[in-house]
Amino acid sequence: MEPLSLPLTTDRLSVRAYRETDAEALLPIYSREDVAQFLLCEPWSAEEARTEIAQRTPKTGLDTESRALSLIVETKDGLDGLEGSVVIGDVSIWLTGDSAEKAEMGWVLNPAAGGHGFASEAATALLNVAFDHYGLHRVIAQMDARNTASAKMAERLGMTCEAHLRQDWWSKGEWTDTLVFGMLSTDRHVA
Ligand SMILES: CC(C)(COP(=O)(O)OP(=O)(O)OC[C@H]1O[C@@H](n2cnc3c(N)ncnc32)[C@H](O)[C@@H]1OP(=O)(O)O)[C@@H](O)C(=O)NCCC(=O)NCCS
Repeated sequence: MEPLSLPLTTDRLSVRAYRETDAEALLPIYSREDVAQFLLCEPWSAEEARTEIAQRTPKTGLDTESRALSLIVETKDGLDGLEGSVVIGDVSIWLTGDSAEKAEMGWVLNPAAGGHGFASEAATALLNVAFDHYGLHRVIAQMDARNTASAKMAERLGMTCEAHLRQDWWSKGEWTDTLVFGMLSTDRHVA
């Protein structure tokens, strides 16, 4: 397989590999209560940000030992007259189970950059990589059923809601429902 060419570039974004300094860039996002609300983690401390970024940095491809690809989402230099690039979130994908053809995706966006389609734009670029570069068969996204912003986004990406699992996940002191969205490689040619 050809090595994956990074960054992925879209109309408005650059979706690139992690750097050590991204701990500082992501901390203001992940330390927010509203961002962490439906994530499995609590709001990050500065130390957790460093640990987390160190764990993500080696995730450079589904065909690497990590079996995962974690990427930073930043605005393109000069977007909307902003000087330089601004880190606005992250997207990631990881192989699930023993298969090299099934994966799960996740996404986080700074609420300050929400409502512009940026998260969808980055996730679409990653889905293209998943199916076109890695030749995956199936990609899923799972979220707390109360996370309507994330569910809406999965729909916007063209994923199908396949399941509503009742109280299957113990999270932050309570049993929570989970939505499972899926996309097959064949779905992409139907729409
Ligand atoms: C889930 C999350 C990434 C969604 O962010 P988002 O900005 O709503 O998602 P999108 O990038 O798809 O943007 C869509 C919104 O931008 C609007 N929009 C504006 N311009 C747009 C464009 N050019 N293209 C697409 N949408 C556009 C859409 O109408 C939509 O707004 P609406 O929801 O009010 O209808 C974000 O809420 C988040 O990070 N949450 C916290 C972390 C989290 O829970 N992650 C998921 C864990 S499972």
